[in-house]
Amino acid sequence: MYIDTSTLSNKEMYKFLIGGIAPRPIAWAGTRSKDGINNLAPFSFYNAFSSSPPIVGFSTIPRLDGRKKDTLQNVIDSECFTLSAVSHKLVKQMSKSAALLEPEDDEFTFSDLEPSDAKNINAPYVKDALLVFECELNQIISFGDQEGAGNLILGEIKHINIDDSIYDDGYVDFGKLDPVGRLAGNWYATIRDRFEIKRG
Ligand SMILES: Cc1cc2nc3c(=O)[nH]c(=O)nc-3n(C[C@H](O)[C@H](O)[C@H](O)COP(=O)(O)O)c2cc1C
Repeated sequence: MYIDTSTLSNKEMYKFLIGGIAPRPIAWAGTRSKDGINNLAPFSFYNAFSSSPPIVGFSTIPRLDGRKKDTLQNVIDSECFTLSAVSHKLVKQMSKSAALLEPEDDEFTFSDLEPSDAKNINAPYVKDALLVFECELNQIISFGDQEGAGNLILGEIKHINIDDSIYDDGYVDFGKLDPVGRLAGNWYATIRDRFEIKRG
């Protein structure tokens, strides 16, 4: 089968993306509104793009009613965000925190997660996360106003908050981090089954 993407609906295209690009890492974006309300949401359209400067990005897709996600509005206003890693032990709370709450509702409280204040930016993070990036906004790339149009939020990591238990001689122990990746639908993956190949 050979498919011209212009023949696909947004929903059909989305299914190709989430089924075909899997597993996807998950970033838990922590932001704060202009009114001082904490916000937390998981994003799997997420990755790293540069190590010097250290640039990471994630994309917010508008709500079905066309409204911006709270995370995007908060990043526009505050120009910063935290990214907390999602370890398997926190996966239930992660799923709960994806609820579409109103801007005045705090997902930390809703998901039984304890927030902590980032040290150098005005944003909260997940206290129990083993790895947290504190980011300043680099730029937002908007792909339009139509249904499914993403807003790619790029940030520069200014500080890293890593738990000593997963940091070994300059390396992140990804086994101990035990991250969860998103597949399609309600499916997730761990990295517990892995292998090594020497390059060349
Ligand atoms: C594992 C997981 C990954 C998600 N990835 C994305 C994503 O990449 N982009 C997006 O817009 N929404 C994504 N969502 C949905 C958002 O987390 C959800 O819409 C959330 O309510 C947004 O919150 P906010 O309005 O507070 O920003 C994901 C949900 C889950 C459970």
